[in-house]
Amino acid sequence: MDVQAPLNPSNLFSAKGLVVVITGGGSGLGLAYASALYQNGAEKIYILGRRLNVLEDAIKTLEASPSAPKNASSVLAAIACDVTDQKSVGDAVARIEKDVGYVDVLINNAGVLGPTNGADLYKADSIDQLKDAMLQDYLGWDLAFKINTQAVIGVSAAFLPLLEAANTRRGWAKGKVEGDGNPRAQDTSALSKVGADPDDDRMAHIITTASVASFMRYCTAGLAYNASKAGAAHLSKMLASFLAPWGIRSNVIAPGPYPSEMTKSRSAKFGTNAVPQGRMGSANDVAALLLFLVGKGGAYTNGTVQVTDGGRMGVFPGTY
Ligand SMILES: NC(=O)c1ccc[n+]([C@@H]2O[C@H](COP(=O)([O-])OP(=O)(O)OC[C@H]3O[C@@H](n4cnc5c(N)ncnc54)[C@H](OP(=O)(O)O)[C@@H]3O)[C@@H](O)[C@H]2O)c1
Repeated sequence: MDVQAPLNPSNLFSAKGLVVVITGGGSGLGLAYASALYQNGAEKIYILGRRLNVLEDAIKTLEASPSAPKNASSVLAAIACDVTDQKSVGDAVARIEKDVGYVDVLINNAGVLGPTNGADLYKADSIDQLKDAMLQDYLGWDLAFKINTQAVIGVSAAFLPLLEAANTRRGWAKGKVEGDGNPRAQDTSALSKVGADPDDDRMAHIITTASVASFMRYCTAGLAYNASKAGAAHLSKMLASFLAPWGIRSNVIAPGPYPSEMTKSRSAKFGTNAVPQGRMGSANDVAALLLFLVGKGGAYTNGTVQVTDGGRMGVFPGTY
């Protein structure tokens, strides 16, 4: 390690030049990700969701912000897309392929709560009440799993060719690389052509927003939510393993409570027995984590779960 090398946070934690896709990018955490990337040099940010008006309003909000970068009116783009529909996802891929031809970072962030039977499980006074609580909105599990879990695979698969294209653009050898002592080769002369530093060895990256619910045995939202988010976290770890020979990374962000459309009905205050930090997460909290993951300083991070929860998982029974 060269301990005399320049170690500059504005360089290590920068999104400079990146092309990023965020599903569910029009609100809540997805919009906070978009804001962090937009303010920190991303080249292009595609925000995807079912409601085009929400996406377009989100872009107006970011572009009108006092912290918006100057001359950055073409960075954000809205694409109407339903992550449960492979045709819709394929159309989004085709549009981005035509526009820029590669994706450095895909963020699987779209999500829904599904059946909210969490509180009723603990309120039940009889076995029949408990039975009813467990089966509440039973049909709603289907959509929760389609959006929160299955789409992590559907969307990641659809974007693989554009993720590989981002790697080859940065000089990485294409295709499958296997075997002992056989690292993927990088032609570092490609880096200067794309405006990257000579020591920038980031590979393409899938980031999935799972949740602390992925690991909690205590159920706050609902059984389907915890289970579908556990599935999302596990699939993201599996992605890191089976994409390893293909040069594509996968990491998980596991947030505790953050303000969003999903959580707007709940109190923002928490006791030390629920969130030791006493509050919901903020734009600072999530921006710092995301910029670490996507930045040059995050290049060595792969297959991990990054928890941002104010200590919540430490005060509940869980599996983390
Ligand atoms: N906020 C929290 O406390 C918290 C904590 C842990 C994890 N999370 C996770 O963080 C992610 C973002 O949630 P959020 O809290 O920011 O809530 P949110 O504001 O409701 O955001 C969810 C986003 O997902 C999009 N979406 C839902 N279904 C979709 C579909 N079929 N296709 C495409 N987009 C879809 C929604 O847009 P459309 O409705 O327009 O499609 C919306 O923009 C979710 O995965 C959630 O589970 C949130």
